[in-house]
Amino acid sequence: MKEKIEAVRMAAKSAFAAAADLAAANHAKNKYLGRKGEGAALFKLMPSVDPAERGEAGKLLNELRQELEAVCEAKLNSLQPRSQAASIDTTLPGRDYFIGSYHPLTVVMREIIDIFRGMGYRVADGPELELVKYNFDMLNTPEWHPSRDESDTIYLPNGFVVRTETSPVQIRTMEKMQPPVRIISPGRVYRRDRPDATHSPMFHQCEGLYVDEGVTMADLKGTLLSFYRQLFGQDTNIRFRPHFFPFTEPSAEVDVTCPFCHGKGCRVCKQTGWLEMGGSGMVDPNVLAGVGYDIEKYTGFAFGLGIDRMAMLRFGMDNIRLLFDSDVRFLRQFAGMQPK
Ligand code: DAH
Repeated sequence: MKEKIEAVRMAAKSAFAAAADLAAANHAKNKYLGRKGEGAALFKLMPSVDPAERGEAGKLLNELRQELEAVCEAKLNSLQPRSQAASIDTTLPGRDYFIGSYHPLTVVMREIIDIFRGMGYRVADGPELELVKYNFDMLNTPEWHPSRDESDTIYLPNGFVVRTETSPVQIRTMEKMQPPVRIISPGRVYRRDRPDATHSPMFHQCEGLYVDEGVTMADLKGTLLSFYRQLFGQDTNIRFRPHFFPFTEPSAEVDVTCPFCHGKGCRVCKQTGWLEMGGSGMVDPNVLAGVGYDIEKYTGFAFGLGIDRMAMLRFGMDNIRLLFDSDVRFLRQFAGMQPK
């Protein structure tokens, strides 16, 4: 019996060693470890073994089976990966990586800049930590005006505030140059607002300013009409509603035809057909005189438009927080989007 076991061991081991592919290895597995294989045949001989030697023979047989199973498994493992590698199609295109996308506000901001550049405007910049002098005083804001209130404005030491509007960039620009002045200034502004679906304590405005000889309210209206038609489509209209801003006289709030129902009335515009987009007016002579401009010679208009609102309309969002939560599941939707 011992010799027979030894013979099967030698034959099986050399068969596994010689197997060069999966088919050969499986063939050897069947031949030596299968139910009708040579190993099983040895077990069948057990009843004929001398009872005195049976215990020893059984032990050897079990050892043989364990050894061959280990050899067989090692062989199959060594062949498997190679056969998988052969099934990879190297001519398939590679996987794309997500390399980021424009933020929806960036898309809209660049479109705004592009449209105004086309009308001869330059982009001007200003600090977000602003002097009270520029944020309120030189914009002709009276001491009693509610926008100065500590419940609205974040005050800092040494005469600074976190700017509440982009309008102070008007003053900074005019202090540096003589008319004609034609600038826009997009950027962040801050107010003590309780956050909800349409309010955020940080949001975005785009300031505009044009000062030259003979600038009129008709120029203001024509400029804004042209801008909104390029942004929302040629069937867009605007309307002015009388208002008050300290730095403009007269002042107007600007409404735009609702781009969803084209003025017919829908849920977004609360059935009015119009959406409120910002403020505007003719620059108050006090402001022009404050920066040293000749108010007999020059007039100007200014406007301040809400950018977040434009982005929400443009992309059909109903909650301003989506813009600021930095949730990549939301932001990924803008992958590949370019400003128009
Ligand atoms: N600064 C104003 C605000 O934050 C918006 C505004 C209104 C800006 C009229 C202007 C303007 O330049 O002329 O509410």
